[in-house]
Amino acid sequence: ADILVLHGPNLNMLGVREPGIYGSKSLEDINSGLEQEADSFGITLDTFQSNTEGELVTRIQQAYKENVKFIIINPAAYTHTSVAMRDALLSVKIPFIEVHLSNVHQRETFRHHSYFSDKAVAVICGLGADGYSYALDAAYKRISQAK
Ligand code: DQA
Repeated sequence: ADILVLHGPNLNMLGVREPGIYGSKSLEDINSGLEQEADSFGITLDTFQSNTEGELVTRIQQAYKENVKFIIINPAAYTHTSVAMRDALLSVKIPFIEVHLSNVHQRETFRHHSYFSDKAVAVICGLGADGYSYALDAAYKRISQAK
């Protein structure tokens, strides 16, 4: 696919999980909205969620073989812990936008540091599910300029 959207741990629980923080949309709702948006742009989009760090690393490596042009990633709790996922993104050299539903900077101090932000094209946080759609819009602009 042109674009890969990666979702980290517990994001499969969206809609049920702390809706006051993360909103009422399910992950399926978010993914189907993004697929529709990609269709309207005439590009292809894959989505993948895992609760396991190694599976996310392997999916990033696979993206390299699939010639994915842009990654949109919400690493969820791995944002604050995962050197392995950071290294995977740097290995494949695929540009990425980091998305968080909540404004992590308004929350606990352990959520203020990200292992991804200094390498991301951009970071979107605090805009809920809309953040993914804005990221897709930006990714589409970038890949169509690159053609
Ligand atoms: C999150 C923020 C993280 O701190 C948290 O661990 C998540 C979700 C967000 O989208 O706001 O699981 O990435």
